[in-house]
Amino acid sequence: MPGETSVLFRRLAACRPARVGGLVSWGLAKIFCARVYGARMSSISIIGAGTMAGILGTRALAGGNTVEVIGRDAAKAADLASDLGGGATAAATGAAPAGDIVILAVPYASVAPVVSHYGDALAGKVIVDISNPFNPSATGLDTPDGTSIAQEIAKAAPASAHVVKAFNTIFGHVLAQGRPLDVFIAGDDA
Ligand SMILES: NC(=O)c1ccc[n+]([C@@H]2O[C@H](COP(=O)([O-])OP(=O)(O)OC[C@H]3O[C@@H](n4cnc5c(N)ncnc54)[C@H](OP(=O)(O)O)[C@@H]3O)[C@@H](O)[C@H]2O)c1
Repeated sequence: MPGETSVLFRRLAACRPARVGGLVSWGLAKIFCARVYGARMSSISIIGAGTMAGILGTRALAGGNTVEVIGRDAAKAADLASDLGGGATAAATGAAPAGDIVILAVPYASVAPVVSHYGDALAGKVIVDISNPFNPSATGLDTPDGTSIAQEIAKAAPASAHVVKAFNTIFGHVLAQGRPLDVFIAGDDA
C-alpha cells in the first residue's frame, strides 16, 4: 500500500518499542504500531521454533498481535507456543500459514526451500526474512555475488507476496531485552 507509506513512516519513526530506520514495509509497520496507534492487529505465523522464533514471538505478542508457531517438530512448536502464552498456537510443517505476515525463523539454507514448499499458500502475504547467510568461518557471506537470500525468496514466492528483510542485524539477546532499538527494514513495497 504505497499510498500509506509516508504516514506509516512518520508513525514508525516515533513508535515505541521500536524506532525504525531504512526502507519501510506497510506490513512490517503494523507489527510495531498495532498497539501504539490502535491499528488493526496483525496475525503472524513464525516458521521455525528456535531462538529467534521465541524472541520474535514474544515481541509480537507484546505488540498485541496473534502468533502461530509452525515447526517441523510438532512437539517443539507446541512447547514454544505454550511457553509464549498469549493465545499463541502451534502447527506442524505442511500446514498453510494462517498469518498475514510470515516470519522465516530458520537457517538461511532452509529459507528458500521453505518458501518453495509453501508455494501458493504464501500468496498475498508479507514474508519476513531474518536470515544471515554467513559462511562457516563467519568471515563472509555464503551467497554468490550479485544475489541475496531475499532475492532467492522473491523468486521462490508467489508474485503477489511481499518480501521484506528485517531483524537480521539485531542479536536475539538484544531484541529479547524489550528495550527501544533501531530495526532496519528493506523491501520493494516501501
Ligand atoms: N540468533 C540470533 O541472534 C539471530 C539474530 C538475527 C538473525 N538470526 C537469524 O535467524 C534465523 C534463525 O536463527 P535461530 O538463532 O533462531 O536458529 P535456531 O535456534 O537454530 O532455530 C532454527 C529453527 O529452524 C528450524 N528449521 C531448520 N530447518 C528447517 C526447515 N527446513 N524447515 C522448517 N524448520 C526448519 C529448526 O527446527 P528444529 O527445531 O526442528 O531443529 C529450528 O526450530 C537464522 O537465519 C539466523 O541467521 C539469528
